[in-house]
Amino acid sequence: MHFQPSLLLPLVAVATAARPMLWWPNTLAEEQYGTIEPESALPNVSTVVGLPDFQFLAEGHMNLSSYTYYHSGAAGEWSYRNNLETFQRARLRPRVMKMVDDIESSLPTQILGYNFSLPLFISPCARAGYANETGELGLVRGAAAGNVLYMVTDFSSRTKEEISAAKAEGQILFQQLYIDPHNDTATLEQIREAETLGFKALILTVDSAADGNRHRALRFGVGSADSSYSSITWEKYNWMREQTSLPIVPKGIQTVEDAVIAVRNGAPAIFLSNHGARQLDGSPNGFEVALEIHEQAPWVFDSLEVYADGGVRYGADVVKLLALGVKAVGVGRPFMFSNIYGEAGVERAIEIIRREIAIDAANAGIADLKQINSSVLALNRYPFWGQGS
Ligand SMILES: Cc1cc2nc3c(=O)[nH]c(=O)nc-3n(C[C@H](O)[C@H](O)[C@H](O)COP(=O)(O)O)c2cc1C
Ligand SMILES: *[C@@H]1O[C@H](CO)[C@@H](O)[C@H](O)[C@H]1NC(C)=O
Ligand SMILES: *[C@@H]1O[C@H](CO)[C@@H](O)[C@H](O)[C@H]1NC(C)=O
Ligand SMILES: *[C@@H]1O[C@H](CO)[C@@H](O)[C@H](O)[C@H]1NC(C)=O
Ligand SMILES: *[C@@H]1O[C@H](CO)[C@@H](O)[C@H](O)[C@H]1NC(C)=O
Ligand SMILES: *[C@@H]1O[C@H](CO)[C@@H](O)[C@H](O)[C@H]1NC(C)=O
Ligand SMILES: *[C@@H]1O[C@H](CO)[C@@H](O)[C@H](O)[C@H]1NC(C)=O
Repeated sequence: MHFQPSLLLPLVAVATAARPMLWWPNTLAEEQYGTIEPESALPNVSTVVGLPDFQFLAEGHMNLSSYTYYHSGAAGEWSYRNNLETFQRARLRPRVMKMVDDIESSLPTQILGYNFSLPLFISPCARAGYANETGELGLVRGAAAGNVLYMVTDFSSRTKEEISAAKAEGQILFQQLYIDPHNDTATLEQIREAETLGFKALILTVDSAADGNRHRALRFGVGSADSSYSSITWEKYNWMREQTSLPIVPKGIQTVEDAVIAVRNGAPAIFLSNHGARQLDGSPNGFEVALEIHEQAPWVFDSLEVYADGGVRYGADVVKLLALGVKAVGVGRPFMFSNIYGEAGVERAIEIIRREIAIDAANAGIADLKQINSSVLALNRYPFWGQGS
């Protein structure tokens, strides 16, 4: 057949229109809130309906360079997009006519032996001060109000002393660490500081062997804060464990191989993450890594605690991760955006996701989140691993 470009053009347009880069879906946030400017008053936080709303509000409220620092992913942000989209490729298989009235009683979760109200935590994200001058204090206090775990970033806007001092009575915080593998003196100082300030576990970020390639952020000079080559080997990990009784959790495990090696090294937990797709474009999100482990070494989930994050925005996303055996799920950017309100925003974000986890699990026919398994996921029906969309 003779090639007719004019026939192809409408198809190209349709294909492009069908796959726009949607950082959040249009659920009429703009119609509700109107245009938000940096100087305008924020709408009453109780009117926020979902986690994506906080990003909409923060985009208007924060200046462009600060907003860009939070928003940015690596390179073309294909993995950032994938982090958000992966959850829709694993559809649910809701069971009906089940007794689900008591689902809320299965929300409380132990993380490394500490009790929290949800199988969900605040992932460590740098520079909370960009959203609100109270910085990390909003996250600490919001986490306390909702009784969820907050993993405090190493690159905080407030000092670690201020953050620790803001704890509610009995509140548990974990400390995320970036270490310089070439300077054990500095690493020991970091460990001692965390111990002295009462952090209960160390989250060791291992996914940043090199600078993150962040095109969007580089335009504003707000790229990766961790800029040197810094491979952390298992030998270094084991050396660190000899220096402290605090549990040390590797954050940024992205393959079943490394999950298995973590088990062999006696790690108490692993954190599946691609750093919010800010390091390596092409890296998988936590759900894809959990799926790989589920398929190839499911015993890992029984050998240690598995945490995962990347693109979690709705209760159903959390349910899907738990179904694979993940113990607790991290959320990063939405909490950072919610912090434009300070602690009230963080508290509202927790309240929203708490309700969504419960109602989404119930609508999927899950009576008890602790008994959830992968039968609630339609795993083999939708393409994964880049087989299309
Ligand atoms: C603004 C920002 C700063 C971050 N800073 C850190 C950090 O200091 N240490 C770290 O281990 N991960 C950091 N991360 C990654 C988060 O811990 C988390 O893995 C990621 O945000 C999860 O994806 P989500 O934002 O889509 O929920 C950061 C992420 C963002 C968005
Ligand atoms: C926000 O809305 C809630 C619920 O309607 C109300 O109780 C509260 O007083 C409002 N807060 C402000 C600051 O207007
Ligand atoms: C944690 O919760 C468990 C089960 O509900 C309970 O037995 C335990 O005493 C709690 N631990 C603490 C430290 O509160
Ligand atoms: C943007 O906001 C941040 C944090 O509030 C501030 O430090 C920075 O100077 C602002 N940048 C511009 C260009 O206004
Ligand atoms: C190692 O860290 C210590 C403590 O922070 C610092 O004083 C020292 O200069 C560092 N050494 C090198 C070679 O950077
Ligand atoms: C920043 O957080 C503080 C404390 O939580 C809060 O009082 C303040 O209103 C927040 N700023 C904005 C602009 O909402
Ligand atoms: C998985 O969950 C379903 C639904 O609750 C249940 O019927 C099934 O027995 C469970 N499978 C396993 C292997 O536990």
